[in-house]
Amino acid sequence: MTNLSAPTALISRDWQSHPPYQAPGYKSTLTRGPQKPLVVVPSRLGEPSVPVFGLDGLRDIDRDLTRNARRNGEPLGERIRVVGRVLDTQGRPLAHTLVELWQANAAGRYVHTVDQHDAPLDPNFLGAGRCLTDAHGRYEFFTIKPGAYPWGNHPNAWRPQHLHFSLFGQAMPCRLVTQMYFPGDPLLAYDPIYLEVPEKARNRLVADFALEETREGFALGYYFDIVLRGKGDE
Ligand SMILES: [Fe+2]
Repeated sequence: MTNLSAPTALISRDWQSHPPYQAPGYKSTLTRGPQKPLVVVPSRLGEPSVPVFGLDGLRDIDRDLTRNARRNGEPLGERIRVVGRVLDTQGRPLAHTLVELWQANAAGRYVHTVDQHDAPLDPNFLGAGRCLTDAHGRYEFFTIKPGAYPWGNHPNAWRPQHLHFSLFGQAMPCRLVTQMYFPGDPLLAYDPIYLEVPEKARNRLVADFALEETREGFALGYYFDIVLRGKGDE
């Protein structure tokens, strides 16, 4: 999908809401985070403002991670339904925008060669999905609640249960890669990725449990809105 009408005045990153590029508690940011001022790349008329992809490549099943990699049975774990809206900073819904999701399985293991965590892979679960928002900016995924997993950031480090999201929005400068957490997770209090987000903004990363979004007899519901280009004070 191509959007040639890029916003002309993007809102600056709100450092009261976003984590710093380099966060000492989150070790890999020290080498991955920018160490020099960012360079603004001027956009030119005629350039696509977001990556181009064909709508033909998107299937309805892509947003159902309980079915999109099923081989010979159901994926293991607790089924969940995650819904919400994608909005801009003025609260306007972003229609037909791409939302990508990836995650660990119920045992806390990714389908990735780098992940050598001693936990089982699930032959019926890939842990990746995508969808477009509808005309009202709404998205919907069915998936499995991910497990916590250990990582090498510091001794006895465990990531809270989380979903990864990537969105491109209306233009490349709007791109957001973020994580969604689950309410009541005791590991949040020990997670440097979560804790490096300014305190007043952290709760925005935690989904709301939403019984009304539950699919009775199938999946518990969670609600999670995503705002591109910062949300500002509230
Ligand atoms: Fe992760």
